[in-house]
Amino acid sequence: MIVIENITKIYQTRRGSVTALDGVRLEINDGEFVAVQGPSGSGKTTLLMTIAAMLRPSRGHVIIDGHKLYQMSVGKRARFRAREIGFVFQMFHLIPYLTVIDNVLLAAGVTADKNPTARAMELLNVLGLRDRAQHKPSALSAGEKQRTAIARALLNNPTLLLADEPTGNLDPANADVVLNHLSAFHKHGGTVILATHSRRAEQLVDRTVHLQNGVIGNSAGCSPSN
Ligand SMILES: Nc1ncnc2c1ncn2[C@@H]1O[C@H](COP(=O)(O)OP(=O)(O)OP(=O)(O)O)[C@@H](O)[C@H]1O
Ligand SMILES: [Mg+2]
Repeated sequence: MIVIENITKIYQTRRGSVTALDGVRLEINDGEFVAVQGPSGSGKTTLLMTIAAMLRPSRGHVIIDGHKLYQMSVGKRARFRAREIGFVFQMFHLIPYLTVIDNVLLAAGVTADKNPTARAMELLNVLGLRDRAQHKPSALSAGEKQRTAIARALLNNPTLLLADEPTGNLDPANADVVLNHLSAFHKHGGTVILATHSRRAEQLVDRTVHLQNGVIGNSAGCSPSN
């Protein structure tokens, strides 16, 4: 279970401080599929990054299965992240000079999977990318890039998958393919937290959480003001 305990994140910039999250409390059960919605700048990416053990909050705790993420040493947190958490970024974040299979295998460096190449090929197969394994990202469509990013996120068999607007750059057909893969991960027992504006995603998830100015609002559907 994930407990987000009163998280505040203040970014310090040269022009002053920006409060991106302001006392967020949230509990997410194992195996839950949660959508995070909210306008641009409401704090969705910041929230996902703090849950992903990638961004230390200014105040509060993120506790996953009893582990307080930001009380771990840097090394322990990195290993925990590699083992337990997959992250799909909006802009794919693929390395342009590596092939598809090598981009997927990037995630293998930190864990002890005996045959990461076989696992990577199995994922590429499931994601419809078997024929693209030796291509560079520049030769891929946007949908193929995002499926490569999903394969990378799933390589280490994470228990938690975070996806930050993974369909934002995709046409509806490719967006559906990506959402279906997230849904399949969820159906196999994984926990998914998805930042999205997608209406279709709302039909797939167990629960939608609304963020506004770094604060969690009414989670019982769309508020009339947005
Ligand atoms: N590194 C940073 N330094 C300073 N301010 C930041 C930084 N990252 C985000 N912010 C600010 O924090 C607030 C929340 O940003 P965040 O990226 O979490 O929003 P978001 O909901 O993901 O927006 P979008 O839908 O546009 O992706 C915004 O006001 C943003 O300008
Ligand atoms: Mg964002």
